[in-house]
Amino acid sequence: MAEPGDLGELGDLLRTEAVAEPFPDLARIREEDPVHWSSRHRAWLITRHDDCAAAHTDSRLSSDRMTPILRRLEERRASPQLIAMVSVLAAWMTFKDGEDHRRLRRLVNRAFTPRVVALMRDQIAAIADGLVDELPESGAVDLVSTFAYPLPAIVIAEMLGVPSEDRDRFKSWSSDISSLVFGAVDDPDRHERAESGMTELVEYFEGLIESSASRGGDESLLDHLVRVRDEDDDALSRNELLAMCTLLLFGGHETTTNLLSSGILALLRNPDQKDRLLADPSLAETAVEEFMRFDGPSRMSVRVAAAPIELRGKEIRAGDRVFLMLAAANRDPSRFERPNELDVGRKPNQQIGFGLGPHYCLGAPLARLEGQIAIPQLFRRLRSLELDTGASLAWRPTLLSRSLESLPARYGAVLPASAVA
Ligand code: HEM
Repeated sequence: MAEPGDLGELGDLLRTEAVAEPFPDLARIREEDPVHWSSRHRAWLITRHDDCAAAHTDSRLSSDRMTPILRRLEERRASPQLIAMVSVLAAWMTFKDGEDHRRLRRLVNRAFTPRVVALMRDQIAAIADGLVDELPESGAVDLVSTFAYPLPAIVIAEMLGVPSEDRDRFKSWSSDISSLVFGAVDDPDRHERAESGMTELVEYFEGLIESSASRGGDESLLDHLVRVRDEDDDALSRNELLAMCTLLLFGGHETTTNLLSSGILALLRNPDQKDRLLADPSLAETAVEEFMRFDGPSRMSVRVAAAPIELRGKEIRAGDRVFLMLAAANRDPSRFERPNELDVGRKPNQQIGFGLGPHYCLGAPLARLEGQIAIPQLFRRLRSLELDTGASLAWRPTLLSRSLESLPARYGAVLPASAVA
C-alpha cells in the first residue's frame, strides 16, 4: 500500500490509464502531494487551483523554454532545417518573457480585437452548417474528422485570409507541427514531419504577407497584423509576422478541435445536461466555460523556474521544469462544488483552462464563440445523436493536450439548417 506522498507511477501523465482518464490520478496528487516531483517527466506538477493561478503570474517562472533548446541545437550543429523550425517556435510570444513578450502582445492585441472576433459570428455558424450539410443522411460518423477538426481550421484560415483552395494543405501543416509541439509519444517521425510542415508553412505565409503588403490589404487578420503600429510606431518585423501567423494557426486550430470534441462528448455522456442546454440556448456561454473546466484541451501550462522557489514545503530549484496542471486545478474541490459533475449552468466558474496573467490565451474569445455556436447547432441538426457504443474512444498520448483521436457517434436524421433556425 502506498504511503501519502509516495505516489508511485501516478506522476506519469502518459501511463495508458492516465491518458484515457487523467482525473483520478490528478485528484490523488492534488490531495496528497499538491506540489509533486514527477521523476518520469523530470518536472514539478502544481495541482491546486490557488497555486496554479498564482504561478501563472509569478515572474520567477519563465515561459522561455525554447532558447536553451535552440542553443543546444546550434552547439551540436543540428540540421539547418531543424534549427530553422525551432527558431520560428522560439520567436512565438508564448515562449517569451517580460518586455519582449509585452511588446509582441501589445501589437497583436491591436490586430486581434474583440471586433474582429465578433465579426466571425455568422461565418462560424455558416461553416458549422456547411459541415453538417456534408454528413450522410443518417448512420455512424466520426465527429472529430467531419466536424471538430475542420471547423476551427476553416475559421482561422478564413481570418488569416487563406484562399479556400489552399485549406487542405494548411490543415496538414498544422497537424504536422502540433504532433511535435504537443509531444505525441507514439509518433517516431514527428520531428521530420514537423520540420517539413514548418518549412512549407513559413514559405506559404511569406507569400501571403508579401501579397498583403503589396495590395495594402485591410480585410483579413493577416492584413491587420502586417499594418499594425503602436503609439511609438513600432511594428512587427517580417520574422515576427511569420512567427505570429504560425502561432495563430497552430493556437487556433488543434486546441479548439479538442474543445469541440470533448464538449460534444461531455453532452453525449450527460443527456440531462444536453437537454438543458438545448431547451435554454442562453446557457451556451456557461456551458462552454464548463466544457473548459470539466475536460479542457490544455492539460497544463509549462514553465521553467528562473529562480529558486519554495512552495508548500518543496524547494523548486532554478532551472527546474514546472507543469501548471490546469486539468487538476479545474477539478479542485476547494474551488468547485461537485467538481466531477458536468453542470452546463455552473456559476461562478473560475476555470483556468485558457491560462491566466500575461500569457492568458489571446484566442479565448474566438474559441469560446466557436464552442457556443457550433456545439449546440450540431445537436439541433443531428436528430437523436448518441455515442456509438460499439466503438471505443481513443485519446492521443500527448503530454500537453487532451485530444480525442475520434468521436464515433450515430444519429437518425439530419435536419436542414432552416428547420432549426
Ligand atoms: C479552446 C481552445 C484554446 C485553449 C484551451 C487555449 C489555451 C491556451 C492557454 C492555456 C494559453 C496560455 C499558455 C501559457 O500560459 O503558457 C494560451 C495562449 C495562447 N493562445 Fe490559446 N487556447 C485556445 C484557443 C486559441 C485560439 C483560437 C487562438 C488563436 C486564434 C489561440 C492563440 C493563443 C496565443 C497566441 C497564445 C499566447 C498568448 C501569449 O503568450 O501572450 N488560442 N492558449
